[in-house]
Amino acid sequence: MTRIALEGVTFAYAPGVPVLRGISLTLGRGATALVGPNGAGKSTLAKHLNGILRPDSGRILLDGQDIRPRSISRLARSVGYVFQDPDEQIFQPMVWEEVAAGPRALGVSGAALDERVGEALERTGLGEVGRANPHDLALAERRRVAVAAVLAMATPALVLDEPTMGQDAQGVDLIVALIRDLVEEGRTLLAITHDMDLVAELFPRVVFLSDGRVLAEGPPVDLLASENLLAQAGVHEPAALALGRALRLPEPTPTEAHLVQRLRGSARRASAGEGG
Ligand SMILES: Nc1ncnc2c1ncn2[C@@H]1O[C@H](COP(=O)(O)OP(=O)(O)OP(=O)(O)O)[C@@H](O)[C@H]1O
Ligand SMILES: [Mg+2]
Repeated sequence: MTRIALEGVTFAYAPGVPVLRGISLTLGRGATALVGPNGAGKSTLAKHLNGILRPDSGRILLDGQDIRPRSISRLARSVGYVFQDPDEQIFQPMVWEEVAAGPRALGVSGAALDERVGEALERTGLGEVGRANPHDLALAERRRVAVAAVLAMATPALVLDEPTMGQDAQGVDLIVALIRDLVEEGRTLLAITHDMDLVAELFPRVVFLSDGRVLAEGPPVDLLASENLLAQAGVHEPAALALGRALRLPEPTPTEAHLVQRLRGSARRASAGEGG
């Protein structure tokens, strides 16, 4: 398992305009969701994890080692970053070549390369479009090309910046299954998202970022029940939570499973009441 630790990381694109204001955070086994309003600094934080951006102060440790002396290409072996905007990432004129570029740079070739690329395309639902020009694909597909390109690197840690954004139901299912598989494989995973239903259903841990600071972190089941926190973090509550409150259920219901369980409980109590 790869462990990534941020210690007091600060960063500004322009002097006097801080974007990260002292972030301390540890990412380990399993999936962590990073949420927060537009402009909170989520993508900026993500770009620090593989050296695209470097902290002004503070440090980032990968399995206990400061990453400062490591080049981007060396870090790319350990931490994969899928850009929020795939057009910042994609530079090859053919999907297959785009996905092959990373592993090729790591020295993978021949049948091993074919296998890596084939598998990454399958896992992202792009098995049929390997020969297409990424720029002829819809944005949702280009986003999955960006995911495939990082998958093919077979890194122990992955950062996905808004992976379900713009995907249709089938695309979302694909990404959800992929995240589950990656976690099962023992990878360290950070996903940035605005989809609070997804956070509640899929992630054991969520980090709230607001204005360059960590507001709170913990299990979604605990944190999503705080209306204060959601308002402060500028994020929507999960649909199941809103529905549970509208139904005046006694406990918060952050996921569909919670909702069903509570509704069954209420139904049982109601029928027991009728019988007695
Ligand atoms: N390349 C850049 N140069 C200068 N400022 C930038 C750059 N990228 C982002 N910013 C600024 O840094 C702040 C944080 O941006 P960032 O993209 O990290 O936020 P975010 O939380 O990912 O937002 P979103 O939810 O919209 O993706 C914003 O004020 C943004 O305008
Ligand atoms: Mg962003």
